[in-house]
Amino acid sequence: MGNLISYLTHFSLPILMKMDPEQAHNLAILGFSWGVSGRSTWDKKNHYSLSQQVQGLAFSNPLGLAAGFDKNGQAVPAMGKVGFGFVEIGTVTPRAQPGNAKPRLFRLKEDRGIINRMGFNNEGIEKVFSRLAAFIHARNKRKTLEDSFFPVGVNIGINKEGADPLKDYPFLVGRVKAYADYIVINVSSPNTPGLRDLQQADHLKGILEAINHAHSEHPPLFVKLAPDIEDQDLPSIVQTIIEGGAQGIIITNTTLQRPEGLQSPFAKESGGLSGRPLRELSLAKLKKVAEIAKGSLTLISVGGIETGQDVWERLKLGADLVQIYTAFIYEGPEVVNRIKQELKSILSKNGFSTLQDAIKAFRKQIND
Ligand SMILES: Cc1cc2nc3c(=O)[nH]c(=O)nc-3n(C[C@H](O)[C@H](O)[C@H](O)COP(=O)(O)O)c2cc1C
Repeated sequence: MGNLISYLTHFSLPILMKMDPEQAHNLAILGFSWGVSGRSTWDKKNHYSLSQQVQGLAFSNPLGLAAGFDKNGQAVPAMGKVGFGFVEIGTVTPRAQPGNAKPRLFRLKEDRGIINRMGFNNEGIEKVFSRLAAFIHARNKRKTLEDSFFPVGVNIGINKEGADPLKDYPFLVGRVKAYADYIVINVSSPNTPGLRDLQQADHLKGILEAINHAHSEHPPLFVKLAPDIEDQDLPSIVQTIIEGGAQGIIITNTTLQRPEGLQSPFAKESGGLSGRPLRELSLAKLKKVAEIAKGSLTLISVGGIETGQDVWERLKLGADLVQIYTAFIYEGPEVVNRIKQELKSILSKNGFSTLQDAIKAFRKQIND
């Protein structure tokens, strides 16, 4: 554990938690963009016990930062330093847009959840592209040693006004393909009207065909799905993703459902719910998708992950990698090392010395 990370967390988190959520978020991004993050020495000390190759990319650990925290790619180096195994920036749209009216971000403290209806506020692909390109050029120049390498994914979406998905997604892929380590087609945010209709098999088929038609080569392509898709619709969606030549699925985005028992006065706000109240739903959808995909896709599980045990459970069900957002907001960067430490203990308790061995064993169980 980097002492600086712990110091910064204990100093700044209580202050940020008292602020308006969106102002706190902007301040955190500003701090991270200035490099105020501390550096974790965890991966170095732990000899890659959690490392693995997925889609030809080297991951020092399976815990990534989910999309939406660093929408404009301003905090990428800092997120690597705090110990994430990979970082997903975006959602980025072709043109800059302000997003929905404020307030649009609510902490459900009593439930360890968040409701957001941000609506893809972002600076647009050109600005984000230049930041990403600068980062990747610097990374290539450093000939980065393996212990500080982490994949950077770009999550892409469409504008609220004037969108044309069959043109916009191929355009965005073309813009980032030289620099993104992977690309995520986001068709699952609940806050852009009509977006989630693109999850239907026929729409998805059209988008994937348009991308393949425009780009004979591209980085691994993942589709991010909502937890609110009915189980009966999943087989055709997963099949379409496989036939469309995508490499994986990120499951899940936030939910429009409001599980019973929410305590927070903000539970009635409209928007997508994330964090602890999403945990069971996200887990259930991962299970279903994994059963359908039968090992033919990379699966990234996200939604309500807070502990090493949560990660273990997801990997057991068929996830290759996981991501967090809400737990990072409530606990700060220290959550990253805590989860990795817990996962490492669980590994050894179960008689594995490396994550790769555990995943191999899980896959064998699933396929037998
Ligand atoms: C404030 C906020 C903004 C988000 N923005 C995006 C986004 O732009 N694109 C996206 O694909 N997911 C977005 N998400 C969803 C997260 O990436 C993640 O799928 C979801 O929060 C579930 O993970 P969690 O329970 O660990 O937070 C956002 C989530 C939150 C809380």
